[in-house]
Amino acid sequence: MKKIYLHPLPVRVWHWINAIGFIILILTGVQIRFVDQVGLMSFETAVQIHSWLGFILLANYFIWFVYYIFTGKFFKIYIPPFWKPVEFIKSCIRQAKYYAYGIMIGDENPHHPVPENKFNPLQQISYLFIMAVLIPVQIITGLMLWDPQLFGSVVSLIGGIQVATLIHTALWIFFSAFIIVHFYLATLGVTPMTHIKAMFTGYEDEH
Ligand code: HEM
Repeated sequence: MKKIYLHPLPVRVWHWINAIGFIILILTGVQIRFVDQVGLMSFETAVQIHSWLGFILLANYFIWFVYYIFTGKFFKIYIPPFWKPVEFIKSCIRQAKYYAYGIMIGDENPHHPVPENKFNPLQQISYLFIMAVLIPVQIITGLMLWDPQLFGSVVSLIGGIQVATLIHTALWIFFSAFIIVHFYLATLGVTPMTHIKAMFTGYEDEH
């Protein structure tokens, strides 16, 4: 069986550090938010782990960023073909129909990944939005909450520390839901481990 190389090493390293980090950030976030209701660890420990991991994932984000920008692959892989809008919308609908119905009756996945076009259209818009907008916003609001004085000018620009808290908490809810959906979708390969193994080895079997 032919294998295709989908995930280069920097992407795999970034992805798994990010995945483990996100799970711990979500859990320590729960502890920080619900001090009196949750007893996973002390408030101080949760804040310390959360802050350290925040900086580790900030550094980790640059692995993804530098790799995709300097190889020019960001534009090929992450940017949807907005110059062919009708075709793109049609392919989104085709992919959504597959997830909602076709997959249950054994239809073939309409998207066949290749290294330069590895995401289906729905993955492409969601990953683009997550990597280019939501993760940077979560990092920036996290920095504001970490030191509201140091980042005072940005805090007042967005309307105060409550606004930063609101955005950071809303994205915490979003990412908690995302991990569940993302994990489910990651198990929908030919076998439940096909995509997950590929994210470790880089290679996926071509079917
Ligand atoms: C339980 C944790 C996780 C598992 C098992 C998992 C699994 C996977 C797998 C199998 C892929 C490759 C298939 C695909 O492209 O869909 C992937 C890609 C990806 N995942 Fe995850 N993931 C996890 C957590 C996360 C988290 C927390 C984020 C971000 C918030 C994330 C963001 C991404 C992105 C952006 C890609 C595309 C990477 C690229 O090829 O450029 N994942 N994930």
